[in-house]
Amino acid sequence: MIEKFAHMLMAAANDAKTIHLYAQGDKFDRLHQIAGDIYDTLSEDADLFAEIAMEVGAPIVNPSVAAVACNWQPVDPVNYLYSMGIQALIQIYNALIQEAYQMNDLYPSDLGIQNALQDWIQRAQKELRYKLMRRL
Ligand SMILES: [Fe+2]
Repeated sequence: MIEKFAHMLMAAANDAKTIHLYAQGDKFDRLHQIAGDIYDTLSEDADLFAEIAMEVGAPIVNPSVAAVACNWQPVDPVNYLYSMGIQALIQIYNALIQEAYQMNDLYPSDLGIQNALQDWIQRAQKELRYKLMRRL
């Protein structure tokens, strides 16, 4: 269960890395930096939830196949103009937040997981609603 969220974070981090690498246009530096920062954040988040999953006996796959394990459709390695890249990052955050809320309902009696998810949701909502949405 919780391993699915960790796998999604791994796949999402790789998507952010792809957007980082394929940024293009006159706002290259802004998108390259933003997507790079999000890659760093999601990678740390993936590590946290992977360790939580392992702690509760939910096996984590090799991160190289994380996207397949959770049916994540990776972004295409195509050139990303600024607004296209930001929109892709918004979609990624929306998918992750939706899953995090569902995960929350699956662990009604595990306060550690509940707290980790609530904390992640709060940070992700700020990233999405305050930062990403204002960048469009
Ligand atoms: Fe880089």
